Amino acid sequence: MTDVHSGPIPATLIPGDGIGPEIMAATTDVLAALGAPFVWDIQQAGMAGIEAGGDPLPEAALASIRRTKLALKGPLTTPVGGGFRSVNVRLREAFGLYANVRPVRTIVPGGRYENIDIVLVRENLEGLYVAFEHYIPIGEDAHAVAISSGVNTRAGSRRIAEYAFDYAARNQRKKVTIVHKANVLKALTGIFLETAQQVAKEYEGRVASDERIVDACAMQLVLNPWQFDVIVTTNLFGDILSDELAGLVGGLGFAPGANIGTDAAIFEAVHGSAPDIAGKGIANPVAVMLAAGMMLEHVGRLDLAQRLRAGIDAAINIDGARTRDMGGQAGTSEFAQAVKRRVAP
Ligand code: NAI
Ligand code: MG
Repeated sequence: MTDVHSGPIPATLIPGDGIGPEIMAATTDVLAALGAPFVWDIQQAGMAGIEAGGDPLPEAALASIRRTKLALKGPLTTPVGGGFRSVNVRLREAFGLYANVRPVRTIVPGGRYENIDIVLVRENLEGLYVAFEHYIPIGEDAHAVAISSGVNTRAGSRRIAEYAFDYAARNQRKKVTIVHKANVLKALTGIFLETAQQVAKEYEGRVASDERIVDACAMQLVLNPWQFDVIVTTNLFGDILSDELAGLVGGLGFAPGANIGTDAAIFEAVHGSAPDIAGKGIANPVAVMLAAGMMLEHVGRLDLAQRLRAGIDAAINIDGARTRDMGGQAGTSEFAQAVKRRVAP
């Protein structure tokens, strides 16, 4: 968290692709009603960036984030296979966004699980996502063999483990669970486990710790999610488990994320551009609104973050405003109106 600001704070806004523009408009609307201090510099990226100037990550967007060091980002579509590297991965690399913090909390009661409150801290720069990938041709088949190398470093593992344990200590959390697959990927995830265990020792007495192998963890999250508090894990496992966590609280519409780095912080929903419902005005904007709440906390405005979360909660649980994924009928902007009425000072 940076120092407490009271004046206006310049920040980059990337509306994104698919449902992005709809849920981002809903969110900035609510932030304005809340009196949030952000002064937006709107930039295009993703498919919108390609359409505007042939580049999914235009230099203007990068320059803006270099200047503001703070961004709220909509989901960006990455075409599968061929040509483009994921813009999200490139952004994480460009700004050293090493920690991906993904909290899930039950907001709508009556789902499969009640009272879920888990924070996943995902390593965001290493592992299999460095994508050192290539094919080996055999005979006529140019793609007969596919090879991918993962990279985990001791320094990178230490940095993310320290972030997770420090996060737990700062946020009155009791336990960090280290999730790995060191029984099979002995080098790649062994170095992560070993380093995280060393960090755990340094926090002994302040933050408890335990370990899970990723597949067992995935099952236990379904059977008894309440045993988990903070989870720290490598890049790919973190990607998979964070969608599973979203499922515990009613789906991707409720899962926000913060990409925290040495040079900047970028806030976004865990979900993608949802092309199946884009343009229909029915997407759930809560995940991005909660990401904006994390952004408010990041700049020291805990008061506004708290009021935003309470407003979302009241709109859903008292006023009955619910989008379709919550079992209701409200459209994205109708839902935003309900939250706006609740957060206005
Ligand atoms: P997705 O997260 O976009 O959608 C998965 C399912 O969840 C869909 O049925 C969708 O309708 C639903 N969903 C997602 N967000 C929702 C919301 N706010 N309200 C209601 N329903 C919602 O994942 P998918 O389809 O695998 O990916 C689509 C595109 O998004 C791909 O190009 C992918 O690369 C990109 N993506 C981008 C991310 C980012 O920018 N951070 C993260 C994940 C995917
Ligand atoms: Mg994902």
